[in-house]
Amino acid sequence: MMTFSALMFTSVLLGLALVVNSQIISHGPSAVPASPGSRTLATNDLSTGCGKSPTITSGVYSTTVNGQQRQYTLTLPQNYNPSNPYKLIFGYHWLGGTMNDVVSGSYYSIQPLADNQAIFVAPQGIDNGWANSDGDDITFTDQMLDTLKAGLCIDESKIYSMGWSYGGSMSYALACARPNVFRGVAVMSGANLSGCSAGTQPVAYYGQHGVSDTVLPIDLGRQIRDTFVKDNLCTSQTPQEPAVGSGTHIKTEYSGCSGGHPVWWIAFDGPHEPLATDAGASSPWTPDQIWEFFSQFD
Ligand SMILES: *[C@@H]1O[C@H](CO)[C@@H](O)[C@H](O)[C@H]1NC(C)=O
Repeated sequence: MMTFSALMFTSVLLGLALVVNSQIISHGPSAVPASPGSRTLATNDLSTGCGKSPTITSGVYSTTVNGQQRQYTLTLPQNYNPSNPYKLIFGYHWLGGTMNDVVSGSYYSIQPLADNQAIFVAPQGIDNGWANSDGDDITFTDQMLDTLKAGLCIDESKIYSMGWSYGGSMSYALACARPNVFRGVAVMSGANLSGCSAGTQPVAYYGQHGVSDTVLPIDLGRQIRDTFVKDNLCTSQTPQEPAVGSGTHIKTEYSGCSGGHPVWWIAFDGPHEPLATDAGASSPWTPDQIWEFFSQFD
């Protein structure tokens, strides 16, 4: 069992001045550009909840998974419209964290950037972690997806997962096990802690990791990234990483990846933390990067 220090995530979040990006995101069956490799939004990408009055709303829900009661929090956009196909974004908490922490942290500060064009879900892990024993956290995710797709209007070609630390590891496990469900994942300071069942099909992959991470050293992040460098058929390379003390981050977009399956890797001068901030900057670069990664498929 790994011992994680609880870290100062809450204080990091409280210290943030959020920049609300008020971009307008166009949606609708004919609004999706056919960029190389992107799937065109087709009728079969619309969940069965589209066009129906919602059967669920924002709040805490329970479901039974392999005999165990599990909980998750659902956050709908304001003015939810059942004829608008929304992105669906799962935010998994870190070890010792809770779904409430993810919600109160505005889903790793991504929610304000979504401008009411995404549905967010924060699942709660057993013992505040994502051991995914016997795949039970994958099954839990499958069950949430069934409920959400039936009750809400979701663009099924835009389902994402993100998380920090154990939550990043869980997002990695989902990319491995459910490559045809998740369009992309954002793994912040993750490792192979929740397993990787299969892990042989391409999924758009975003990884960020601190070069001075002593909880889950950066090499663990490189290893899981390389699962998708390989699966996405990207050209293998050794990305540049910033020097300790540089106060910067370096982003690498892999080349040669198969259509619709980019791999982004951002190494930063910092420790085990989700919302990395460059020296002298007043807000972290992390939320904008993850939102841009998810939004590239719009
Ligand atoms: C991940 O860890 C599991 C053990 O939990 C191991 O079986 C698997 O080979 C690892 N795989 C990858 C691709 O990270």
